Amino acid sequence: MVFKHWPLVRDVRFTLKSRRYLRGAHKRRPDLNWDEFRRIARHFKRDDMGSLAERGYLFQLASDLPADASVVEIGSWMGASTCFIAGGLKGASPKIQAVDNFAGQSTCGEDAAWYQRHFQALGEGSTLGFFKSNMAALGFAARAEPVIADSLAAARQLAARRGAVDFIFIDGDHSYQACCADIEAWAPFVKRGGVMAFHDFGSRAHGVSQAIFEATKAGRFAEIVGVAGTIIAFRM
Ligand SMILES: C[S@@+](CC[C@H](N)C(=O)[O-])C[C@H]1O[C@@H](n2cnc3c(N)ncnc32)[C@H](O)[C@@H]1O
Repeated sequence: MVFKHWPLVRDVRFTLKSRRYLRGAHKRRPDLNWDEFRRIARHFKRDDMGSLAERGYLFQLASDLPADASVVEIGSWMGASTCFIAGGLKGASPKIQAVDNFAGQSTCGEDAAWYQRHFQALGEGSTLGFFKSNMAALGFAARAEPVIADSLAAARQLAARRGAVDFIFIDGDHSYQACCADIEAWAPFVKRGGVMAFHDFGSRAHGVSQAIFEATKAGRFAEIVGVAGTIIAFRM
């Protein structure tokens, strides 16, 4: 095992990293509940799907939504991003619809092989069990409903929610074609003034960046809300 993956080393690294991140986060946004963020981050300290800065930004975007917000996530994997969003939501009954085929698929170039290895190492045929147990462990099961479907099938299934969603986070299939199709299918779901965010903008998943550039040029987004790591968020 690589030195940095030894449990004690990993824990110390996590503690130092999260302390450093949280010092800055508290300064930037003293109004947010960073204790809740820390609780979620500790649960996912072995997760490697996003940096603390990216997780913190998702938490911030969710915290800035109105109470009882309606959220859709495309690509939930084991639910880490879902939990960071859920932790920021306010009100008695906010809802996240977490769309994923839960089959650990990626059709994006070199990422496909990485996924396949990661997925096989789990020793399960689906990530749904991990998703559910993470929601239960953090108390988010009532807020986050898994939608077990391919992205475009889910968009057809949830058609009644068009124009009614406050926030959509897209982190599913990272190929150019799929990202274009996700923008096309899901942009109409976001309320005017709502937010659409993407993971992996500017990453090695070049198709994601290309699809976002083209959508920006075509005037699909009203303005940029912000960028953190490879997350970019737009107001619709
Ligand atoms: C990068 S992972 C998501 C990571 C997660 N958002 C996080 O940050 O913890 C991508 C996920 O998208 C899902 N996925 C890929 N293509 C999809 C598609 N066409 N429809 C639905 N889900 C898809 C995969 O099963 C995988 O779980």
